[in-house]
This record gives sequence, C-alpha cells and structure tokens, in this order.
Amino acid sequence: MKLFKIRFFALILFVTGWSSLLGQTPKITRGPYLQVVTPSSIIVRWRTDMPTSSKVLYGQKQDKLNLTATSANLTTEHEITLSSLKPATSYHYAIGTDNIPLAVGSDMFFHTAPKTGAKTKVRIWAIGDFGNSSDNQINGRDQILKATTDHRPDVWLMLGDNAYSKGFDDEFQRHLFAQYQNSFLPNTPSYATPGNHDYGGKPDQFDIPYFKSFTMPEKAEAGGVPSGSESYYSFDYGNIHFVSLDSYGKLDGQHWLYDTTGRQVDWLKRDLAANKQPWTIVFFHHPPYTKGSHDSDKETALVKIRQNLLPILERYNVDLVLGGHSHVYERTFPLVGHYGLAQTFDKNKHVVSAATSDQHNEYRLGRKKQGIIYIVAGSGGQLGGKANGYPHPAMVYSNNTEGGSMLIDVAGKRLNARWVCSDGVVRDEFTIVKK
Ligand SMILES: [Fe+2]
Repeated sequence: MKLFKIRFFALILFVTGWSSLLGQTPKITRGPYLQVVTPSSIIVRWRTDMPTSSKVLYGQKQDKLNLTATSANLTTEHEITLSSLKPATSYHYAIGTDNIPLAVGSDMFFHTAPKTGAKTKVRIWAIGDFGNSSDNQINGRDQILKATTDHRPDVWLMLGDNAYSKGFDDEFQRHLFAQYQNSFLPNTPSYATPGNHDYGGKPDQFDIPYFKSFTMPEKAEAGGVPSGSESYYSFDYGNIHFVSLDSYGKLDGQHWLYDTTGRQVDWLKRDLAANKQPWTIVFFHHPPYTKGSHDSDKETALVKIRQNLLPILERYNVDLVLGGHSHVYERTFPLVGHYGLAQTFDKNKHVVSAATSDQHNEYRLGRKKQGIIYIVAGSGGQLGGKANGYPHPAMVYSNNTEGGSMLIDVAGKRLNARWVCSDGVVRDEFTIVKK
C-alpha cells in the first residue's frame, strides 16, 4: 500500500466523486487490513490520526472501483463491511474519508472466500510468537512472500503472542502492523488467537489492544456456531472448518480453557458437533505437547489442556491442532489418548496413523481415521529453548534452532503442510490424503 499518489488523483476523482482535497489531510496510521472474509463479505479496517468519516471504493478492476461503502461516523478506528460480494472473486479497493482519498495501491486487493464446502485450493499461513521485530520475524516474512508468489495466503492465522512483550497498542503497531503493512496486511485476511503476551500477563483483563485491533467472527458470519465472544470463534473457508480458542483468558471471571464446564468448551462441543466440513483445524496458543521454551510436563495450563480438552478434540475428529508459546517448531505423530507426562508416551499405544513410511511425511487415510497431529509453530519471531527431555517423544520432528512459520495447502481431499524457515529452507513437510 502506498499513501495516495498524485497519479491516482484524476482516476479516483473521476471514478468516485471524491471531490474535495481542501483542508487538513488526515493521515493513515494503521492499515488498511482485512478481517472476517466470507463468500459474500469482508471487513476493511484502518486507523487515522484524526477522527474522520470512512469510505471504501471497490470493484473487480483496479481502474474501475465502481462500488462504494461509507460511514459518516467520525472516528479514528475505521471498520467498513463490504457486502453482496461474489464468492471466490478478486476485488481491488481504495480507502479514504467521505471526500478525501487516503490510500490506493496495487497491493490493495482481496479475494472473497469460496462457497462453503467448495474444493477450491486454499492456502493457509500460520505463524506464532512473532511480533518482536527480530531479524527472524522479518526474514521469515520475506521468505513467506517469496514462497507464495504463485498463490498468496487466503487465510492468515496468528497463533498468539502476536505483539511482545505486553500487548500494548504501540507494540502491536511496531511489531505487527508496521512489519506487515507493505506485504500482507492490505490483501490477506487475518484471524488471531490470543497469547499470554497479548494479555500482558493479566488473564482477567479484557480491555486490551488485542481485542480492539481485531474483529472476530463471533456471530458465525463465515459459518460455524455463533460464539458470542471475541475470545473464541469459528469459521469455514472452502472445505475447512477453523476454530480459535482462548487458552489464556480467565473467561467469565472463572473459567480457563481446561475447565470444560465453562462456556467456551460448551460452545466448542456444539460447534464441532455441527461441523460438516471434511477438514478441521483448531488453533490456540498453549500447546498440549512441547519440550521447547515451555514444558508440557510442568506448566499447569499445558498439562490440564492435554488432560481435559484433548479427549473432546479427539471425539470430533479434529485433523490438526496449531499452537505456539514454545519458541520452537514441533510436530507430533497422529495421537490418540496420550494425556499423561512425556515419559508415559507409548508409540504402540498412542499413535493411530495412516503413515506410508517411518518418515511420517505421507498419510493416506482412505476412509480410515487417524489421530490428531499437534504442531507448535512458535518460532515466527522469538526463537529457541529446550526443556528437560527435549525432544518430546511424541514428536515426529522438532527444531529449536531455526525460526519459521507454516504454509498449509488444502485442495479437496489433500492437505500439504510445510514449515518454511526464515532462511527459506523447508525443514518439515507432510501430506494427508483423505478419501
Ligand atoms: Fe506464550
């Protein structure tokens, strides 16, 4: 995105009727960025340095932005929903106030989601523990850009600890919004899950920049069961059902994620029971299995999530669970029923797998089911750490020296996942094929 350039003036004025450039010009200080994409709608957000009205011009051709959505409400936090869009369709857009264009550019575009259940190829980018402006974060971003020139990510999952170290607004600004503004934010819809750092270490404080920065599909705008909460939500994209859980907040003043009598887990069960999509990906920050910078044998939340939550995820045939928190990359075997400490892991008992080799890089399920693969992708910015007993025995692959993030491609019945490191090397990759 480039701030408005002179060569676009005539075009934009002609197309839109933006007619006045007089007076003080507001500046964009954040965004534009995209939220809650569905087959027929998307939300465009941005921030300005003074309260203004909001206007989005959009259309299927960059030189013909013939549609308009506006709000006369004067605000610095702009949030405009574009609706009545066509599914699986590309649009370009520009933003401004009611009468002043503020930003337009060749990177300001979006693709609407395919019709729910469609077998269209979907590319997911998942990254955890990233917002620290480290070389690892920046190099990793550039490698993902390079790896996705043929197909930009459709869905961007932020796996928590999105802005270090206290989740302050200026930390989101510097470590997240500034780092991705010239690459992914103007064209890649993001879905966040909260980490302990996003909460500033205070699990009972919900008036935090994390919740103000993102718009969650809490009303099931894109499918799933309405959660009625910004903390946790679900959505469909193509033939994938996604669920984001809050593994840090003390919800309703009393329930952690592992308190399975709380509203979050009650909703989760109803949501998973109603899910009809062939693929299910659940993401939350705190990993049930890890021996990196955190130890799933020692940390209460990790132990209890493993004991109490995993039987529910297993019951509803979840395919992948993505998390972070530990600043390493780890990928488990497909697991069923391993709720104890690492030393109780028994490959013969706890691995239910359709792997075609000992390498565990190809799973051909046919009509069979297999266990859940748990991935820690917590080295998107932060990096390193080693707990006693590293690597965890339930892991196919562990790496605590390289940073990176995941690209997951789903095309019909085939899912391919690869871990793209900050030097561009893919160091782990696997495929699941269903019937
Ligand atoms: Fe964390």
